[in-house]
Amino acid sequence: MCGIVAYVGHRNACPIIIKGLKRLEYRGYDSAGVALLNGDLNIYKKKGKVSELEKVLEHLQVNSTIGIGHTRWATHGEPNDVNAHPHYSSNKELAIIHNGIIENYASLKTELQARGHQFLSETDSEVFIHLIEDVQSNNDCSLEEAVRLALSMVVGAYAIVVISKHDKDMLIAARKGSPLVIGIGKGEFFLASDATPIIEYTSEVVYLNDHEIATIKKGELSITNIHATKQTPYIQKLDLELDQIEKGGFPHFMLKEIFEQPKSITDCLRGRVIAANGHLQLGGIRQYANKLVQAERIIIVACGTSWHAGLVAEYLFEDFARIPVEVEYASEFRYRNPIIREGDVVIAISQSGETADTLAAIELAKSKGAIIFGVCNVVGSSIARASHEGAYLHAGPEIGVASTKAFTGQVTVLAMMAIIVGNKKGTITDSVYHSLLFELENIPAKVEQALKNNAIILEIAERFKDAKNFLYLGRGYNFPVALEGALKLKEISYIHAEGYPAAEMKHGPIALIDEEMPVCVIATQDNTYEKIVSNIQEVRARKGRVIAVVTEGDEHIKKMAEYTIEVPATHESLMPIVSVIPLQLLSYHIAVLRGCNVDQPRNLAKSVTVE
Ligand code: G6P
Repeated sequence: MCGIVAYVGHRNACPIIIKGLKRLEYRGYDSAGVALLNGDLNIYKKKGKVSELEKVLEHLQVNSTIGIGHTRWATHGEPNDVNAHPHYSSNKELAIIHNGIIENYASLKTELQARGHQFLSETDSEVFIHLIEDVQSNNDCSLEEAVRLALSMVVGAYAIVVISKHDKDMLIAARKGSPLVIGIGKGEFFLASDATPIIEYTSEVVYLNDHEIATIKKGELSITNIHATKQTPYIQKLDLELDQIEKGGFPHFMLKEIFEQPKSITDCLRGRVIAANGHLQLGGIRQYANKLVQAERIIIVACGTSWHAGLVAEYLFEDFARIPVEVEYASEFRYRNPIIREGDVVIAISQSGETADTLAAIELAKSKGAIIFGVCNVVGSSIARASHEGAYLHAGPEIGVASTKAFTGQVTVLAMMAIIVGNKKGTITDSVYHSLLFELENIPAKVEQALKNNAIILEIAERFKDAKNFLYLGRGYNFPVALEGALKLKEISYIHAEGYPAAEMKHGPIALIDEEMPVCVIATQDNTYEKIVSNIQEVRARKGRVIAVVTEGDEHIKKMAEYTIEVPATHESLMPIVSVIPLQLLSYHIAVLRGCNVDQPRNLAKSVTVE
């Protein structure tokens, strides 16, 4: 949600910032802007994609060795040139970029207006920079001190970078709740919402912590906290390669990420599962492993696709570990009065590790004594750091807004967790344990096999691309897959789609079925197979168009469905990792055929850092 990039050093800042903003565009793409210092502090901003801003800058050739840039996902104020970041202070001597939300901006704005400040935009961020300006002039202090004082007056979440007309080698940055990474080069610094704009320049980074303020001045980085106490920067090496954040010959990141899944799942399993030795271990879960084994219940908090992975985990933990599981939308959990007992276990699932609601939900659970396990993809992310322990997906950067390889990675990690707990508790037999390990090892090859359906899926997409509605049905482990298939389609093709447990169809959705309605049924062989065959018949009796995802060799459903897509057999608990693949491809192809922007669907953002 909003991407920020800033640079100070010896190179021309503008191209570095623009390139960085393009890498961060998945975070927001309704407008973009930069502030550059060459004599004056000049702001250039434009509604639309970063490429629109680039066109403006092309003619100007602004040379500056310092600058800040922003790509926006609107919260306060519609997407237009004026509301785009950066924002000036009244005297145009300061400018800010901001990711997050200032909750008390309205009252601050009223006070500042009473003191003569005039605002151009409707944003909360403009209030922030006026506040800093106001505090500085009232206290006659340094800019760093003014930022610190202003931060103590704002309520909300932020990652900010401030630039001043008077200091061509100083940037001030701060964070609370929204991510900020500082890349350390030779005599130069790169600041960004995540490491992707930084990786091609340096692999040494510092992740700013909440309530920290970073001042870069005359080639030196110093970090202080909100009380002005000096902090020691913890410099980390980035484990990220440039080719991981490029499209690698694919037309879209989403397609690249779909096809990467055999590899991303292999990376997720690497070193953790060695079936021949009966070895299964998650290195990140040690000290608190017993808490998980002894848990009387598990609460899972997540949003979006991660929430769907959480639903699969509910089945996994209940099946293998016999622990009751509740799966909660993080946004609902945090705003009711949830019952959390000391020692309860909370699993937070998040690709980005930055989703504001999930982060707030775990802070709430922690404050009530729960033990938090994070299942995140982004290493060093806020949720990963706020958790007691956890396991990374190791799926590599996911850039397409619609999540694909993160989902399969999440289910893989959660399956490993449930199997470990089941084994320790003795709630699964040794033979089930060993057979699950072999199945896990074979999953990447089965995903590879499922990807071979691409051509038939393209054909199905051509047939149904103009449908107005889609229904997705599944039972048992495939019910969350139905939800995920429907979400993928909605997100990127803007076709209305619903996912339902197949048996629930009779309680409502069946009324929607007519000869126009594509019904995608995930009907792989498991203990609900006979039941779902009956559900297919019910759809057919109402002339619905059945697209069935079936287990390889299933001749029975082939006779009933208009289209069948075969996937290899696996243990039913691991089937979501395989059966979701055709649904990802189907939504991708339909979106492309409809001319939609697959990687940057309208109104969405990859990382939702506002509640
Ligand atoms: C956004 C993204 C989804 C994602 C959800 C949760 O809505 O567009 O793809 O599933 O956030 O994100 P997280 O990073 O917490 O998994």
